[in-house]
Amino acid sequence: MAISIRITSLILISLAVASAFSPADHYLIDCGTTEATVVDLDHRRFTQDGSSSVLSSKKSFTLKDSNPDPKLSPIYHTARVLTKPSDYKFKITEKGTHLVRIHFNRFGFKDTGSTCHDQFHVSANGYVLLHNFSAPKGNPIIKDFLIWVDDDELVIRFTPIDRSSFAFVNAIEVISAPRELIPDEYVSSDQNGRTNIRHAYETMHRINVGGVKVTPFNDSLWRNWVPDDEFLKLGDGSLKSYNKIHFDGRIQYRSGGATREVGPDNMYNSARMVSSLNNSIPNLNLTWIFPVQKGFSYLVRLHFCDIASISLGMIYFNVYLNGNLAYENLDLSTLTNYLLASPFYADFVVDPVKFSDVIRVEIGPSSLSKSHAVDGILNGLEIFKMDNSLKSLDGEVCVDQLESKNRSNSQMGRLLSLTGAVCLLAIAFLVMRRKTEVKDAVGWSRVPVDVSEIDLKSNYPKSNGVDV
Ligand SMILES: *[C@@H]1O[C@H](CO)[C@@H](O)[C@H](O)[C@H]1NC(C)=O
Ligand SMILES: *[C@@H]1O[C@H](CO)[C@@H](O)[C@H](O)[C@H]1NC(C)=O
Ligand SMILES: *[C@@H]1O[C@H](CO)[C@@H](O)[C@H](O)[C@H]1NC(C)=O
Ligand SMILES: *[C@@H]1O[C@H](CO)[C@@H](O)[C@H](O)[C@H]1NC(C)=O
Repeated sequence: MAISIRITSLILISLAVASAFSPADHYLIDCGTTEATVVDLDHRRFTQDGSSSVLSSKKSFTLKDSNPDPKLSPIYHTARVLTKPSDYKFKITEKGTHLVRIHFNRFGFKDTGSTCHDQFHVSANGYVLLHNFSAPKGNPIIKDFLIWVDDDELVIRFTPIDRSSFAFVNAIEVISAPRELIPDEYVSSDQNGRTNIRHAYETMHRINVGGVKVTPFNDSLWRNWVPDDEFLKLGDGSLKSYNKIHFDGRIQYRSGGATREVGPDNMYNSARMVSSLNNSIPNLNLTWIFPVQKGFSYLVRLHFCDIASISLGMIYFNVYLNGNLAYENLDLSTLTNYLLASPFYADFVVDPVKFSDVIRVEIGPSSLSKSHAVDGILNGLEIFKMDNSLKSLDGEVCVDQLESKNRSNSQMGRLLSLTGAVCLLAIAFLVMRRKTEVKDAVGWSRVPVDVSEIDLKSNYPKSNGVDV
């Protein structure tokens, strides 16, 4: 079989946590600023990276969008440009999984041309997070990671791929994850073994099935959950069977079960369901198709909460991943200790997807389904890419390769050093040109943290000849 599914079940560590989650480590950094605090659209306070201890960089600029989109969070109005390998360092007070989010908004770099472009690697404590990365044009993007941190410090390193490229970043979040979010180990049902789960993960999909977008404002871990519509594959079954359902009551979180940090109320209170019509069990599956990258393992987390049944012990269904039976006769009443509207989640590790670049999730009636009941439900879903044997989430490279490559580049002498100078000039020229163009506005500002071998002033007149 081309694709194997390792079905894993959780070792539940029952922690009777009653109080609201308050992370031990909690850093929100607005890059490219020198003012103390910026509040984003979700009412969070981001602190500056200029003259702060988090950033250690030999060479960096700050850029400010002279014509910012007022609908965008202010964290996207500034950026820090890094022309040399540079680190953001965060003191870690509690070892364990940390949420790491890196925000990119590519404003204004379009003019620098091919002489000098944003292309860079991002690594963190030995993991490759992004390789040969270039931020896409258009809307800001958030790269969302879960990283096991075993040290007293988390070091996020930005490395431009060569001397004619630069790295940039708009904002960084580093937040301790609650212990129950990612367990330390999984028990694998077919291998009699335990899978160590101290990994790095990248969130590929985080979906609120049958509902609206949930923003960080309504999520206690400040996540985004997006609607499922574009991933739902509509079959030829009756449309009614793809029923969306919304629940106005209270979600019954149980001790030992999913917590609000695992999934917020606003995700569990909406779903899609398969339900019997006219006393007959429909012969169909509800199917979603999610694009993923080949060659990696994925952790698939499915969120269930029976907000549809009118009484207990009525709902039984099957769950399939890539056509394989992942859960037979899923019985939500038993799994939730006989409570309706109580959340349950199941994790599955999908082994390297070699021949397919999608993960297909299906739910449908099972042999125990009843003809006058709900025959399947799904409330939410997350798909995380897991780091490979090289500890990489992006490409067949390890951190050492990225760093040795960068060292050899810097030994390549005059030619590359010249390219580097041209690149730096191109950025500086762009910044200065912008500044003169927009006289009234605050405009672009450039704050060289440290200008080393290149003397910008004496070289500046030559930049008229640089194609920018
Ligand atoms: C990364 O970029 C370098 C330089 O442009 C190129 O040689 C290399 O093939 C790229 N690697 C991948 C995996 O795209
Ligand atoms: C938060 O959730 C409430 C209730 O579902 C909703 O009315 C509100 O619009 C949401 N706020 C944001 C910022 O998403
Ligand atoms: C339900 O059953 C009745 C009687 O058997 C039939 O007339 C009707 O078309 C059925 N409705 C649907 C939606 O299948
Ligand atoms: C539901 O999906 C499974 C796995 O792909 C498949 O074996 C089964 O035949 C499907 N059921 C229906 C009714 O299409």
